[in-house]
Order: sequence, then structure tokens, then C-alpha cells
Amino acid sequence: MTDIDWRTIEDWDRRYYLHNTASGRELNYAAVQRVDGNYIHLADGSKLLDFQSQLISDSLGHRHPAPHDAIKRAMERYGHVFFGLGTDLRARAAKLLVEDVLGGDSGWASRVRFLASGSEACENAIQVARLYTGRPLIMTQAHSYHGLTSGPTLLRGYRGNFSPSDSGRFEQTRDVPNIPAQGYIPIPPPEPQDFQAQGRLPSLVATEQLMLACGPENIAAVISEPMFGAAGLMPHPDYYPGLVALLRKHNILWIDDEVLCGMGRLGEWFGYQLSPDISPDIMVVGKGINGSSLPSGGFVVSHPIAEIFEDGRWWSGSTWDAHPLVCASIVGTIEYMLGADILDTVRQKGRYLRDHLQRLADIHPSIGRISGAGLYYVVDVVDGNREPVVPMDRYTGFQGDLSQHPNNIVAATCMEHGVFLGGFVPNSIKCGPPFTILESEIDLAMSALSAALKKVEATYH
Ligand SMILES: Cc1ncc(COP(=O)(O)O)c(C=O)c1O
Repeated sequence: MTDIDWRTIEDWDRRYYLHNTASGRELNYAAVQRVDGNYIHLADGSKLLDFQSQLISDSLGHRHPAPHDAIKRAMERYGHVFFGLGTDLRARAAKLLVEDVLGGDSGWASRVRFLASGSEACENAIQVARLYTGRPLIMTQAHSYHGLTSGPTLLRGYRGNFSPSDSGRFEQTRDVPNIPAQGYIPIPPPEPQDFQAQGRLPSLVATEQLMLACGPENIAAVISEPMFGAAGLMPHPDYYPGLVALLRKHNILWIDDEVLCGMGRLGEWFGYQLSPDISPDIMVVGKGINGSSLPSGGFVVSHPIAEIFEDGRWWSGSTWDAHPLVCASIVGTIEYMLGADILDTVRQKGRYLRDHLQRLADIHPSIGRISGAGLYYVVDVVDGNREPVVPMDRYTGFQGDLSQHPNNIVAATCMEHGVFLGGFVPNSIKCGPPFTILESEIDLAMSALSAALKKVEATYH
């Protein structure tokens, strides 16, 4: 592998690959030679501590032996097996998730289907909600993110649009034309974790008004994220109990999108478990279900929903449903997580990270808010008046020169310090290290973040 000609590789990549989010001209190319544990080894010989688990996805770090060895073992017996035939791995993965993690018959969860991505899983969850209820509308929160296929693209927030770079060639943001924009009703985002609540949250008051205006009998489901991934927003603790009470009152389903927060990220198996006594009707999983060792997604349905499939034939399925190697990686991951008491690890390391961030807040006036749980914390960066540095904040259209947005200043500076850490929306820094992170590595990331915040303060304070 050492004889790779990285100059040629960069040239091919720049010429032939259709890149994500950056325009071709502004692409900041960084080639990865290999990944290992908590580190990304770059082609130039340097290494980066991965403090974001890539896309808050690689929960066990890189090439963790649990999923990795399970995939290798499965490859001795399996390649692809289509969904019309069974494998031991599909059955094991389903049993582990539904029974061992979610409680089986004594819990809310009944059946799971495994798919190839979180986006596809959200598509399926929406379809099931509409099929089950016979209703057309899906409610979805501003700022939320559920993937970029046509259905999830319409679920607010980041919608697969095309934003102009500062080259001057395009002036306006362009939405994807002619995708079926009917059937999705935006509701307000939740108030943040530190909102000073007096009485019922305003977002829930507005949500109920919208429900009544649309007619609950027309609404199949509300889809939501426990903690917003792309937008980095942790809802106020009253939000989910209040939302679920509303849904039960109006007989509307709850699709809980746990693609990013699921499997331990927030210190519980799933984010909904942070609020006592609530449970979803449909839960979407992805990323963490196998530490992103292979492309994966899935959705779990409740007992009443599963019941209709006892007598009805659902004509759905993808070539890749429950791919044996993906199922092997899920089995390897869940068995390891159960055996290693991973939730305890996440909580302990999360406390260490949170304390460290609090200490940074004492010395950095640019820290406006720290929110999160488990091993996912978001730092909201503010200017000298304690206002968001980029006023559009989570409503950003990603236009023009993005390099001076705080998230990108932080990402560039942290990279100079050997740490992969930044954010997506302009004022938010997302700390989501792998569960395998060491305290000494948290220290390293925090000193890189401190150096980066000094730069932000030099520019905006
Ligand atoms: C909450 C949430 N839902 C859905 C998705 C889409 O998953 P995928 O990227 O696997 O299609 C993501 C991806 O980041 C996500 O964070």
C-alpha cells in the first residue's frame, strides 16, 4: 500500500468523482491512507484523532475487531443472499435488537427490517406510517435531518439543494425541482436544552395548533430526532414527553429517527430512553447499529403495526435488505456492546468530556451553550454580544464563502493540531468521539478546540 501514487490519486479524484457539499473548485482534498482505532492516517504521513466518529457514525472507532471479525467470518460462508431466503445472521441480528436490546414481547418493539442506509430506512418508515394509518401527512421539525433521498429530503432542514459558492457563477440556492412536495408539514424545532421553560413549551403549543389546522385524521406521523445530528440541537427535557402526549391525544404515530443517536451515543441504547415512559411506534436505526463498518439502516415497528403484516403482503424490498455481511456486522457490534457494558463507558467518558467543555466555557467567551448527553455534545459559538456569529445559524443556506464560519475555522485549526473536529451548521461544533476514546485523547481534542476558539475570538470578539 505504500507505493500508491497519491498525486495521481488526487488528480483522478478531482477529475472524476462527484464530490459532496464543496464545489469542485473549492474542494479541500485530504486523502486517507488508512484508518485504525481512533485515528485517521492521512496520505501525507500525518494522523488525525477522529473526534467526530466521522459523521457521528463510527461509534466503535475504526476497524473495531467486533464488527470487523464478524464480517470476516461471515465472508467465509456468505456473499449476497436476497431477502426471500433466510440466513442465521439476519435472524440473530433481528433477535439481538428486538429482544435483547429492546425487550421483545415485554417492550414496545416487535419486528425489524434491515436496509442499506438510514435514508432508505426513513423512506420505509414513512411508507409504513402512511400504510398503517391510511393517512397522507407527515409532520417534520425545522432543522431536522433524515437523509437525502426524495422522501427524507422533504423532511425539512437539509434538503439536497444546490448552494452557490463564492465563484459568482450562481446567485441563488436552487431546490431540487419537481419532487413531490405534498404531504410534509413542517413544525417548529424544539426549544434547546437550556431554554427557561415556564409552562408548556411554545414549540408544542404551535405544533398542536398545526395538528388541529391540518386535522389529526389526516396526519400519519411526526418524525423527529432525539438530539438533532446535522443541526446539533438537544431538545429541552420537557419536549419529548410533551410531544408524545400530544401524539397519543390525537392518535398520531411517532417515528423516532435514531440513525445518529441510536446504540448508545446519548448514554442510553436509544435517545428516546432519556425520557421516562415514552416509546416510539416506529424507530429508525442506522450508523451506530454496526459502528458504520458497512452501509446499514433499518426500522423497528411496534406490536400493533407489526400485526397488520401477519395478514397483509407488503410488496417492498431492496436487493440489499438484510445483506448477510451487514447482518454479521450488526451481530458483532451488538454482542460486543452488550458484553462490554458500553453504556457505562459512554456515560463515564461523556462526563469527562462534558466537565472539560465546562472548563473551556469558563475561559472562552465564544462558548454560548454546551448541550448534549452521553458522548455527543454540541458547542454553540457566539460573538462578543453573545449572539450567534452567523445570524442565520441553523437556518443557513450555505451560501458564499464558508471558510470564515466558526465551524470551519475550528475544523481547520483542529486539523493543524491533529484533531478531526468541526461542525455542519455555521456556529456549532460537534464533539462526538468514538466510544473507544481515551481520557488523554479527550484532553488532546480539548486543547485543539481551545486553540481554535481563540482564533474565533480573535476574529469575532
Ligand atoms: C438522524 C438521521 N437520519 C437519517 C440519516 C440518513 O442516513 P444515511 O446517511 O445512512 O442515509 C442521517 C444521516 O446522517 C441522520 O443523522
